Amino acid sequence: MTKKTYYISTPIYYPSSNLHIGHTYCTVMADAMARFKRITGYDVMFLTGTDEHGQKIQKAAIEKGTTPQVYVDKIVEGIKDLWSSMEISYDDFIRTTEPRHIKRVQAMFMKMYEKGDVYKSTYEGWYCTPCEAFWTETQITDGKCPDCGRPVEKAKEAAYFFKLSKYQDRLIELFETNPEFLQPDSRRHEMLNFVKQGLEDLCISRSSFDWGIPVPIEEGHVVYVWLDALSNYITALGYPDDLEKFNKYWPCDVHLVGKEIVRFHSVIWPAMLMSIEVELPKKVLGHGWILMEGGKMSKSKGNVVDPVKLIERYGVDALKYFLLREYTFGQDGIFTNEVMLNRMNFDLANDLGNLVSRTVAMIEKYNNATLPKQNDEEGPDTELKAVATAVAAKVEVHMNKFSFSLALEEIWILIRRTNKYIDETAPWVLAKDEKDKARLDTVLYNLAESIRITSVLIYPFMHTTSQKIREQLGIADQPVLWEDASNFGILGQVTVKKGEAIFPRLDIPKELAALAAMIEGNEESCNQANSTNNAPLTIEEIIANNAPLTIEEIIANKENEATVVPGKPEITIDDFDKIDLKVGRIVSCQKHPKADKLLVSQVRIGRETRQIVSGVAKYYTPEEMTGQKVIVVANLKPINLRGEESKGMILFADNGDRLEFVTTTAADGEGVS
Ligand code: ME8
Repeated sequence: MTKKTYYISTPIYYPSSNLHIGHTYCTVMADAMARFKRITGYDVMFLTGTDEHGQKIQKAAIEKGTTPQVYVDKIVEGIKDLWSSMEISYDDFIRTTEPRHIKRVQAMFMKMYEKGDVYKSTYEGWYCTPCEAFWTETQITDGKCPDCGRPVEKAKEAAYFFKLSKYQDRLIELFETNPEFLQPDSRRHEMLNFVKQGLEDLCISRSSFDWGIPVPIEEGHVVYVWLDALSNYITALGYPDDLEKFNKYWPCDVHLVGKEIVRFHSVIWPAMLMSIEVELPKKVLGHGWILMEGGKMSKSKGNVVDPVKLIERYGVDALKYFLLREYTFGQDGIFTNEVMLNRMNFDLANDLGNLVSRTVAMIEKYNNATLPKQNDEEGPDTELKAVATAVAAKVEVHMNKFSFSLALEEIWILIRRTNKYIDETAPWVLAKDEKDKARLDTVLYNLAESIRITSVLIYPFMHTTSQKIREQLGIADQPVLWEDASNFGILGQVTVKKGEAIFPRLDIPKELAALAAMIEGNEESCNQANSTNNAPLTIEEIIANNAPLTIEEIIANKENEATVVPGKPEITIDDFDKIDLKVGRIVSCQKHPKADKLLVSQVRIGRETRQIVSGVAKYYTPEEMTGQKVIVVANLKPINLRGEESKGMILFADNGDRLEFVTTTAADGEGVS
């Protein structure tokens, strides 16, 4: 039986400088989707590439004293290296300087020309070089580009035009009758309004520079960059002279693009396809931007996050997980090191990493590394199995809506449920009494099964981690089959083998310092922090640390000298003055991995973010804590609570039943007196 096909594309990137984390976002999403479709039975075509022509590249090459081709060759090599270190599974990489692309763009130009859709005229307008976009008088504001806000230049030259206006009515009909064509809906409404306001014909050639594809009907003109760039989606498939792949994969299932280029993909590209009488892509999906706290990432602001450095430090799967889990498709999101490190520590090291190492260690210790057989189902077994076998279908629903974050959340519900199962069944207690051996066997079996199912579910997002888990479970040589994620009870008597921690725990304050040093280029302090990853927990440590810490224990902690105790003696104003109270904002919060009563918050106080552990899990969930503005005792001596450093104390008012936040409308970082 022939497989159904699925064609997904990313934008082709400008090789004008090295790509930053924002660029990798789209490619990582496309890769996860391509892998998901492959594992669920599709014949996938995943296309990416580089957009190498245009005035901007030519200018940059001249500034570097080299030719545009030599200039782009070097950057494209770096981009391909980046995709290789990010383990991006593209099926084809198209460069717009390749002969296969050049000849096909020329053929498309001729088709449009012969159709009567291309004419020669004079272009007069405003040109934004960084965006490679022409703007009319009414579109620019204060002499600035409406997209990027940079100054535009007056331009006038003989040029060829594409009759975009001719397709206005068909485009309106497209947006009105096919809501699926452009998503999210907000972008569709925006584009519909844009088209209804009236479309101007589009300049598709330039004669003031020559780094482009020659216009076949007149020397001295090169194809203007959007016709050149957009057509990559079909030239890579062989259109119009080699139609085998084109007939197989076109129309494209989804063009994944950033929000600022939705207009080119949902208005100009369909009109061009209408002109050459080619079917339209099924869907254009516009994603949001990853922003820094001060706005967009840019080299000049010095706030560009280099994905290569993050991969070297934390591994590709941790970075992919963070990008897919943290941001909601279609919306902008803020990048901060704290949020990234917290995701890596709590979701990956604690939830997933610990689950795998605990389970494998227990099978090694309690059953000589052989997975025992399962016996009668009892207690929480039924619920664990029900949760585990239902996840795959939920992941499919979310993935088909490009809700990567929700898909991963479903998987983490299973991971957390499995961790809870360990607490509920307490295998270390069962191991103490031979009469409990049958129950212990079942518990260990169910844990291994749950982890096996997890290894299948995470495959599209983190295939290397999936494989590492399968190695520890002794099933590395078995194929990863999606349908196996919905079946509980597949594993035989495999031999498990504990390996390295799949995600080592990070010392967040030290990592923050290291990342800051990276930006400042201070490699030495960065390396010092490098060596501070905590060793994974041993089974003995897990058993020893099982009991949660009580509030009393926290209060009694001898290290915490400044802890408030009942029956306080009178103090002077000088004593009070020693307490440094600050306004802070809880930017993220997670459960303490080893103590049920504690929450671990990252609190931003002015420019600093610090970790504070509070014994309030009884009153608040991490979600309720996140975002709260709080008053912090900022100069409390740091203490270590069950392996988590706590630097300060968040104040709460105690009304007997509940702890209420002590809060303020002042900005975070301000002092309290
Ligand atoms: O626009 N967050 O190329 P490009 C998320 N060559 N996405 C980001 C981002 C960020 N901070 N910064 C950039 C071009 N991007 C054209 C495309 S397609 C036929 C031609 C995304 O290298 C941006 O939204 O400037 C866009 O989708 C992609 O990177 C490529 O941008």
